[in-house]
This record gives sequence, structure tokens and C-alpha cells, in this order.
Amino acid sequence: MRAHPAGPLHGGMTPPPSVGLPPADLGALDAQVWPRSAERVDGELHLGGRPVTELAREHGTPLFVLDEGDFRGRAADFAAAFDDADVHYASKAFLCGQVARWVAEDGLHLDACSGNELALALAAGFPAARIALHGNNKSPVELQLAVDAGIGHVVLDSFDEIDRLVPLAAARVAAGGAPVPVLIRTTVGIEAHTHEFIATAHEDQKFGFSLATGDALTAAVRVIREPALRLTGLHSHIGSQIFDTAGFEAAAHRVVGLLGQVRQATGEVLGELNLGGGFGIAYLPDDDPVGPADVARRLRTVVAAECAALDLPVPRLAVEPGRAIAGPGTVTLYEIGTIKPVRLGSGGQGAPQVRNYVSVDGGMSDNIRTALYDASYTCVLANRTSDAPPALCRVVGKHCESGDVLVRDLWLPADVQPGDLLAVAATGAYCWSMASNYNYLLKPPVVAVRDGVATEVVRRQTLADVFALDAVLADVPAPAVAPSQPAPEHAAGVTT
Ligand SMILES: Cc1ncc(COP(=O)(O)O)c(C=O)c1O
Repeated sequence: MRAHPAGPLHGGMTPPPSVGLPPADLGALDAQVWPRSAERVDGELHLGGRPVTELAREHGTPLFVLDEGDFRGRAADFAAAFDDADVHYASKAFLCGQVARWVAEDGLHLDACSGNELALALAAGFPAARIALHGNNKSPVELQLAVDAGIGHVVLDSFDEIDRLVPLAAARVAAGGAPVPVLIRTTVGIEAHTHEFIATAHEDQKFGFSLATGDALTAAVRVIREPALRLTGLHSHIGSQIFDTAGFEAAAHRVVGLLGQVRQATGEVLGELNLGGGFGIAYLPDDDPVGPADVARRLRTVVAAECAALDLPVPRLAVEPGRAIAGPGTVTLYEIGTIKPVRLGSGGQGAPQVRNYVSVDGGMSDNIRTALYDASYTCVLANRTSDAPPALCRVVGKHCESGDVLVRDLWLPADVQPGDLLAVAATGAYCWSMASNYNYLLKPPVVAVRDGVATEVVRRQTLADVFALDAVLADVPAPAVAPSQPAPEHAAGVTT
């Protein structure tokens, strides 16, 4: 166990750093990892044509800075690579009204994983026909919203859900509406992550209908016989942060096999095959994800070959990238507060090894991924460059939790100091969307930058927002400036 509430870990912490040698240039911005618009101008990091010190002064820290050109550029890359398929943006990675509008304008589809994500997308004007609703425990209210809105697909995940959806769909049909289009989510027994995948006969997890037990076929047959539902195809999602297409190819093999079984059992030839998301991104300079064009080529080839082997027509493909669209274009800016050198023992020649704990003004409440998944991030000193020698650092948050780590091991210039700005790269996916109010820290704002213009697309949560939910405090005035966050005008790196 890595984290322990409010206490030291002692035996749980591995002292020797696993960080490797310092890079030649500690301030370098690797193009794989940083947003497309990131550049250094007179030493300072600029994003979307805006200097980070100005962004911090205007919006405070912690701050999510979203490079609009990067986000939309990656969406466009997927759309171009899959021009004969449907690209669904998996909105759980990051969703707000502005993002929903970009995705709508750019012609992609959108996946929602809850009724509230669906409601948000609809409220932003996203075309219902291009939305799919996922989830392993959709409530009747969520399903009713989907039916009433006329969304593109409900992705069926259990027999209970079929039972819940049928009466709602039947009521729509009785009122003169069309049957509800659905996909069946299959669990194909493939679990993929980065370069490895495991193929098993069955999967011990909560999503979907198992292929191995026959549940997926049973569900398909049942839905095909249900007049209020229209089964358009099958769905599979095999994991996340995948760098290699082999897992997708193995999954495609199995799920196309099910298309064949469905045809044999019912005579129906299903026309859609959604192979899910999970395409990896570079969090570190050495990461080597596959680009959308390569993924598209491989998937097309495999599906075509599998269909030819079964004498099936090739279905229309769909994919659901979330991280690969939202992840790389966003950077989190933090202000450094406390720096604490901690002795780790002896280095090679008996010299003491020291790790600097660099504390910033956010932490696991705005990025839980390091604590939760042992995720790796990189960061740079953002308000300036420095010629100081490298120092071994660990970037930590301000939460009362020893596992509150943002960047586990990295080299920063030895002269980093309180008041400097740190920028953590590739925080666009599953950071703001998984943010919490732990220790009553407030959710940071998201600022979109493009061509020198910064627009707040999500404002900072205030203490008044939080007090308003509290039965005792709802009418008590909250401090205008939350004590836990520096006021924007005091934000880091902007004093000189
Ligand atoms: C069904 C489904 N589709 C798409 C995604 C998006 O995954 P990623 O952001 O890794 O592309 C997920 C994520 O877990 C998912 O569960």
C-alpha cells in the first residue's frame, strides 16, 4: 500500500530514486509530451501564445491550461484517420460545455458515461443522434433521458438493463417513435495496457456481457427479438493507455467471431463494430504511442480479414478515444510553496543523497492519477529557465496524505524556489474530471488558450460554492479569497 492518511510511510517508500540520469536540458519541452503550442519565449513557457506568468496572475493557481488547437487538432487527426468510421470522443476524459461544442462543431460523436454527462452534452447543444450512453448501472431516469432525447446508441451492459430499457422503449414506440438503437457491450477476454495484453477465456469485471460464457450471444438474440429495440452492432473496450495494436487486433478477432455467431443464430447481419478507446499518449519523453493513422490502418486490415474469413460484410467501425484527444493538450500550472530536502542515505561515493520535496498549491484533489494508478508525469520550471545543476525532486501536493504525489521522481534545477511556477504536462484527461474537494481544496479553473487569447471555460470553484451545500454554513458568508489558494494577483512567478 503506497498511501496512508496523514501519516509517514516509512517501510512503504522505496528510497533509491528510479529516475535515471538528468536530461541535458532541464527546461526542454519534448514535442511528444507538451501541447502543440508550447514554446519558451525568453525562457518562459508560453501556451497558446500566452505567457504562463500572465495566465497565473489572471486566473490564479492551480490552473488547467487547455490548448484549444491541440485538442481540436488531435480530434481532427482521428477524424481524418477514421474517415470511413465514427470517432466518438470519450467525454469522461474531460467534458465541459465548451469542449462539447468543439466536438460537435468538429463533427465527432460523443460518449457519455452517466446521465449527467449526457445532460451536460445535451445542454451544450450536442446533437443527440451523435451521442452514445455507456455505464454498467444506468438508472431508469438515465435511460429515460436517453430515450426521450433520441440519442444515437444506448450501449447495453447487462440483462437488468435490457429489462429496464424495454418498457421505456416500448412506450416510445407505442407513441409513434422509432425503436431505440442499441449496441451490446461484450467482454472479449482481452485486457490491454501499454505494450502488453492478456487474452483470457473470460473476464472477472463489472462491464459488459461475457463472450466466453455465451451471455453476449444470449443478449444479442434477446435484443434482436425485442421489437422496441434495434440492435445495430457490437462494442468492445479492452483497456487504457495502450501503445500497441495487438490487443485491439485480438479483440477484433473475437468480436467479429460473435458477429458470425449472431448471424448463425438469428440470420441478422449486424452493421456496426465499436472497438472502444484506450489509445495511449506520451506522458514521458520516452513513451512511444501509436498514432491514429497507424491504429486505423491496423484495425481496418484485421477487421476486413476476420470478416472475409467468416464471409461477413465489413461492418462500419467506431472508436472512442478520450485520453488521446484530451490528454496531451492540457498543462497544470502550480505555484511552488515549500521545498524540503530529505536525506535518503548515502550515494555512490558515500555522499548523502537528497531528494527535494517540492510542494505545490494543489495535489491529489486535481490529479489523483499518480496516487491511484502510479501514473508517471513530467514537469518543468515554467516561469523561467535556469542554469543551476539538476536536483532530484519529488513534486507533492498540499493534502494531508503522504501519498499525495504528483510527479514521483524527476530532476529540476537546484535553484527552484517558493514562488516559482511548475507546469505538469499531459494533464488533460482524467485529472480535472476526477477532481475532488479533499481537504476542502477547490476545483481549479480551466482556461482555453489559442492565438494569444485565454478564455476561462470552467471557473474556479469558490468556498461560497462549497458552503452553499452545507446545511449549517449555507447562509454564512465565505471568505472571498479561499485561504488555500493564492489570490490571482499573488500568483507565482509574477512578482518581479
Ligand atoms: C467504454 C469506454 N470507451 C472509451 C474509453 C476511453 O478510454 P481512453 O480515454 O483511454 O481512450 C473508456 C475509458 O475507460 C471506456 O470505458
